[in-house]
Amino acid sequence: MDADRLTRRSILGRAGATAAGVAWLASVRSAWAEDPPASPPPAAASALATGALVPLGYETLPGFLSKDQLAIHHGKHYGGALKALTGIEERVYGPTGTTDAAARRELGKTQSEKANSVLLHELYFAGMTAKAAPPTDDVKTAIAKRFGSLDRWRADLEACALSAAGWAMLAAHPVNGRLYHVLSDAHDVGPLWLARPIVLVDMYEHAYYVDYKNDKASYVKAWFDRIDWAEADRRWKASR
Ligand SMILES: [Fe+2]
Repeated sequence: MDADRLTRRSILGRAGATAAGVAWLASVRSAWAEDPPASPPPAAASALATGALVPLGYETLPGFLSKDQLAIHHGKHYGGALKALTGIEERVYGPTGTTDAAARRELGKTQSEKANSVLLHELYFAGMTAKAAPPTDDVKTAIAKRFGSLDRWRADLEACALSAAGWAMLAAHPVNGRLYHVLSDAHDVGPLWLARPIVLVDMYEHAYYVDYKNDKASYVKAWFDRIDWAEADRRWKASR
């Protein structure tokens, strides 16, 4: 995907020409559609591009998440977000969209929430694996450069996750090439614009309540052991 490779320059170029959020979503769609990773999980275009849910690459993650937990999360919450977003787009875009300011405000806010939910869930599901492996050298080096060590990085991301009600993530910012930890209390709250998630954990209760009840600490600790570092490596390389 030479023409669309997500270099810092190309992202900045797009951001200058269009709204930042549109550029970001277009970049993700382009990357997933044109530059599929060579190893599992299989590349799949985002539902934001296709209108169809990206299937889970697994039914369960043994020792971490059950089939019931994953099924309700994927179908009801990820699927529900896509369904809601589709309905909003039908009401907003095209020749008959509402121009009432109050109604438009609510539609706009909900659009951000649902679109972000779709995208973040796809990154979350595709970022976990049943077979844990250590981080790749490239990612480990980048983390150590920013956070001092892998242990220090993990402690900080764990603190972010336990204090977040929505998402906690390691993200790479294309403007300066630095890694950041981003935490949010909702899909559309607290993003670092243009930053690209490398690894992320869903901290909504719906992500873990079936298996962990209110023991979010155990959920987070188990998640660290199911990070797909090969996928993280692909995201890190694509962010540069
Ligand atoms: Fe979720």
